[in-house]
Amino acid sequence: MKMIFLYLLFSAIVLCVSAEESILCTASFCDEIECDDLPPKCQIQNSTHNGIFLPSPQICNCCQYCLENLDAGDRCSTGNPSDPSHTSICGPGLSCQPEEEGSSDGFCKRMNTACHLLQDDYDTRRLDGTLGSLETRQTCEDDGTFSSYKCIPGQTCYCVSKTGTRIFGESDFTGLPSFKMQCGCSRAYTQAVEIMGKQLGPSEFFRCSSSGDYDVIQCIGEHCMCVDAEDGAPTYPDQSLVNITLISNETLKCFSGEEGVFYKKCEEEYVAVLNEVRMYKQQGYDMVFSYTFPKCDIDGTYQPVQENSTHKMCFDKEGTVLVAVDKVENATLADAMDCKCLRAVLLMTSPETPTCAENGNYSPIQCRRGTCRCVDSNGNQVCNGPNCEVPEIDRDSLQC
Ligand SMILES: *[C@@H]1O[C@H](CO)[C@@H](O)[C@H](O)[C@H]1NC(C)=O
Ligand SMILES: *[C@@H]1O[C@H](CO)[C@@H](O)[C@H](O)[C@H]1NC(C)=O
Ligand SMILES: *[C@@H]1O[C@H](CO)[C@@H](O)[C@H](O)[C@H]1NC(C)=O
Ligand SMILES: *[C@@H]1O[C@H](CO)[C@@H](O)[C@H](O)[C@H]1NC(C)=O
Ligand SMILES: *[C@@H]1O[C@H](CO)[C@@H](O)[C@H](O)[C@H]1NC(C)=O
Repeated sequence: MKMIFLYLLFSAIVLCVSAEESILCTASFCDEIECDDLPPKCQIQNSTHNGIFLPSPQICNCCQYCLENLDAGDRCSTGNPSDPSHTSICGPGLSCQPEEEGSSDGFCKRMNTACHLLQDDYDTRRLDGTLGSLETRQTCEDDGTFSSYKCIPGQTCYCVSKTGTRIFGESDFTGLPSFKMQCGCSRAYTQAVEIMGKQLGPSEFFRCSSSGDYDVIQCIGEHCMCVDAEDGAPTYPDQSLVNITLISNETLKCFSGEEGVFYKKCEEEYVAVLNEVRMYKQQGYDMVFSYTFPKCDIDGTYQPVQENSTHKMCFDKEGTVLVAVDKVENATLADAMDCKCLRAVLLMTSPETPTCAENGNYSPIQCRRGTCRCVDSNGNQVCNGPNCEVPEIDRDSLQC
């Protein structure tokens, strides 16, 4: 009896082991692998000596794999297939530029991207002493592209695309060092528009928050769920979707607002026009009269610039007219209208607001605490030559 029992136990163990062996990457497999030491810089990981951890190129991912970050001027290789695998790469913002045409060896050099050129310009002018007091150094990603947002000191921060153009999303400038805008939703939308070649209306794309993140509540057709503000992934993947008519703080944890209401005023107006157009089409009517869709932003609120047949207007997010300019009488003002200044003022908590032009744009000359300077259409200080900033009494000498 005892023998039989032992035998069973033994065969169970054998079975177990062989079952495990047939799966290659087990804990015991890795036990037998001896890992090389990590390169020195990978072990230090401070601001000057660091490396990047990657999935191991070896079988079963048993060992940590880390490439040392090389500094500017270090020797590097773009490699060819016969070389042993890399142990280092050019660090953030650097790329391996060959010594001569066709060579795979070279030196790590700063990448020549538009973002880096702006940084270089800033650095040069700081040494020259021709930098404006409200200019900020451009921040770039490790791959040399623009980081996701740009701030105007004391005013607001806004989202930018990888190529540096301003995109949807703006916040009050709080000045906290930890302040960060990811602008993930806004950047994804910008990419989608590039691919599809057209703007997307409400209900054709995820809704963003006013600062360019994902709105934490999303409805696709009649189905609603909570998502992560940074990446848009479902927050509770196991929870079933909620009917749009039933959304409330009871049915969805991320919900805040009026029960059963998902669409904001602009979206509602847009969807109403859309349904009307669809109805006429179904009934076989061609467009007899033209419809005007309201212009909604990707957070579901009204876009800043709206127009009717006679006027161009700045709207606030809820659809109230802030200023109106006659399209014929004041054509120049109307054509240039972007309402960026008026919208920034609405967001700001600081009383030191910028001066807006009659059409809601930033006035090209801005004065603050007795000093005047030129700004671009987004409110960033721009310096042309030595007359970068002047005392308020010399305001007229500025050429913006
Ligand atoms: C990083 O560590 C290295 C080696 O320990 C040291 O020489 C270097 O000064 C450190 N850098 C900083 C910024 O702490
Ligand atoms: C959502 O609720 C409405 C009204 O109760 C109902 O007409 C509709 O069929 C429901 N939709 C789904 C997808 O269950
Ligand atoms: C849900 O909202 C109602 C008012 O709309 C409020 O009285 C209630 O406390 C809220 N419940 C939760 C869990 O927040
Ligand atoms: C256009 O809007 C302006 C400002 O709100 C208003 O005064 C004007 O009457 C509108 N024109 C038409 C044709 O609706
Ligand atoms: C056009 O602009 C002038 C000043 O620039 C202003 O006095 C006038 O009221 C404006 N007219 C309209 C219709 O906006």
